[in-house]
Amino acid sequence: MPKALEQIHKNIRNWYQKHGRLDLPWRKTDNLYYIYISEVMLQQTQVKTVLERYYFPFIERFPTLKALGEAPMDDVLKMWEGLGYYSRAKNLHQTATLTEMLPQEIDKLIRLPGIGKNTAHAIAAFAFKKPVPVMEANVKRILCRLHRLENPDEKQLWQIAERMLDRFNSFDYNQAMMDIGAMVCLPKNPKCEICPLADLCEGKKTPDLYPAKKKKVAPLKKQNILVRIHGNKLVLIQRKTKLLHGLWGFESIDIPPCSAKYIGEVSHAYSHFKLQCKVFVHEERNIGQGIYFNSNEIKKLAISKIDEKILKLFLLQCEKD
Ligand code: ADE
Repeated sequence: MPKALEQIHKNIRNWYQKHGRLDLPWRKTDNLYYIYISEVMLQQTQVKTVLERYYFPFIERFPTLKALGEAPMDDVLKMWEGLGYYSRAKNLHQTATLTEMLPQEIDKLIRLPGIGKNTAHAIAAFAFKKPVPVMEANVKRILCRLHRLENPDEKQLWQIAERMLDRFNSFDYNQAMMDIGAMVCLPKNPKCEICPLADLCEGKKTPDLYPAKKKKVAPLKKQNILVRIHGNKLVLIQRKTKLLHGLWGFESIDIPPCSAKYIGEVSHAYSHFKLQCKVFVHEERNIGQGIYFNSNEIKKLAISKIDEKILKLFLLQCEKD
């Protein structure tokens, strides 16, 4: 191994011992199931959110893979409520119903639903201490800056990640790289002066250029939402659509009935589009189609962020009326 890389590994180890987030609970356990859950939660979600609101309640409610597999899907979605990207919860549940033990081999891990190369490597490195690199978004940014790559492809990045890896300390190295990405090699105003990789970094003079920013404007989707009420009960439906499948929410309609009252607008940004909903309320004289829930019953359902916002708007309106 080149001397320079050996020195960088040493710098990274020292930095991690001093500044790393050694206390994150999924780093202090060798429970494979806990590590698996944490890595899936962390796929699209920040550490702070996972740590403060989801990780502990989830493993307390479903303490083992078996318990997760035996639980109804609705309960799993309820514990995932608000975390977004609900296919992750469904994939976890599916794996738990089909598998007694998670495999150790990367090619078998990758075959599990919802597990790509990065998560397979994370599980292998953290639960099985295998010498493989992890490459989530923060680490990708480091690698791009190290080599001044504006638009690298995945294959090129994986090759660099493999070359860089500290094979003798893959657990600490990988956790450290994620921390350096989250705390030092920041998207804006990176702290190059304290970076343990600075001696090797070709991009430190102009870090903003790497990777090149993709200018993508998320398309806007518009919907009309009808909140049907009867007495103190509201109609909710369980979604069958690809987006938010299995979650409960309010009905989307083409044209609101004339007798419906417009109460305002809510919006939510998803990964690929922004959803903007005009909300209408319709008081029904008789019970119609659908399932009616009172507020206590609604609390037990798993509902998405946008439906939560609709519900809040509705409750606010009730207070005003
Ligand atoms: N993101 C993905 N895996 C992570 C981990 N183990 N620690 C912190 N952030 C992560």
